[in-house]
Amino acid sequence: MSVIILGIESSCDDTSAAVIKDEVILSNVVANQDVHQAYGGVVPELASRAHQQNIIPVVDKAIHDAGITKDQIAAIAFTRGPGLMGSLLVGTSFAKGFALANDLPLIEVNHLHAHVLAHFIKEDEQDANQPKFPFLCLLVSGGNSQIVLVRDHLNMEIIGQTIDDAAGEAFDKCAKVMGLPYPGGPLIDKLAAEGNPDMFSFSKPNIPDYNYSFSGLKTSFLYFLRDELKKDTDFIEKNKKDICASLQKTIIDVLMKKLILAAKDTGIKEVALAGGVSANTGLRDRLTNLADELGWKTYIPKFAYTTDNAAMIAINGYYKYLNREFVNQEVAPFARLVF
Ligand code: KG4
Repeated sequence: MSVIILGIESSCDDTSAAVIKDEVILSNVVANQDVHQAYGGVVPELASRAHQQNIIPVVDKAIHDAGITKDQIAAIAFTRGPGLMGSLLVGTSFAKGFALANDLPLIEVNHLHAHVLAHFIKEDEQDANQPKFPFLCLLVSGGNSQIVLVRDHLNMEIIGQTIDDAAGEAFDKCAKVMGLPYPGGPLIDKLAAEGNPDMFSFSKPNIPDYNYSFSGLKTSFLYFLRDELKKDTDFIEKNKKDICASLQKTIIDVLMKKLILAAKDTGIKEVALAGGVSANTGLRDRLTNLADELGWKTYIPKFAYTTDNAAMIAINGYYKYLNREFVNQEVAPFARLVF
């Protein structure tokens, strides 16, 4: 018998609800919060308030778009963490209330696991382009940069991670230094497409194992611009595209070096990307080229499932439902939920 799961995501600044029938997506509604743009980053209190306003209409639309009725839902899955506490509380409280009112099992989902499992969301029954176990997943977002060894839907392990800033943070912070609006990642991507990636060079970290570090790059970028601006106050304006292309290339070089090492050491050739930064065109292209060169089979999530969305929460909920992994009404969110 088919299983229909309602997923809720509210960990940061996107309110999202999705309905999944087995592994096939029926609806995925995301309400973005433009309110943060004026502040150059997410303002936690404003995010919580916006979630509070959005959650009911978003869930209502997800159920409507899916063409189902509430009584067909088998369970409700929600993001328990990691994320902003005020934001998580809205989704968690909603899910608990919905479960209680409709007598449904409640399923907690780790937001980071969900990003990895986004690869298993099917557009229709015929969609068969999912990674085979075990695979490596490079999870790169505004808050995380990790290499995950995925053994099964519910069995995964971080084998490398950032010791300071995340890759998305490096994009966003460097963009801010250049005077670009938040979030800077997509803009750098766009400008980089027309620039020369070899025009400037920035420092790359030298740290052991499969770990990452981006704080040195951020500082080197800041000093580089400071020095150039002393010589020419229009330096950024005149060289914007080349600066973006060179910065993007450096970030991709750093990410790929450790991913290649991890793939070599583990002998795994199934390699996936996940998280907001996986929308980056340069990163996607590099991965595709590496696939040819190293004999990898690569998986890049559909654009709608790279940034925060509830479809990935619902698919994670589906696998947990099959495993009967439910939580009770005492569950509370965790801003720093461990992987
Ligand atoms: O996964 P995500 O939506 O949010 C969390 O961090 O949870 O990722 C957002 C991050 C931001 O840092 C944003 O700048 C980055 O993903 N991002 C990009 C691109 N699109 C989004 N970075 C580089 N290139 C892009 N095209």
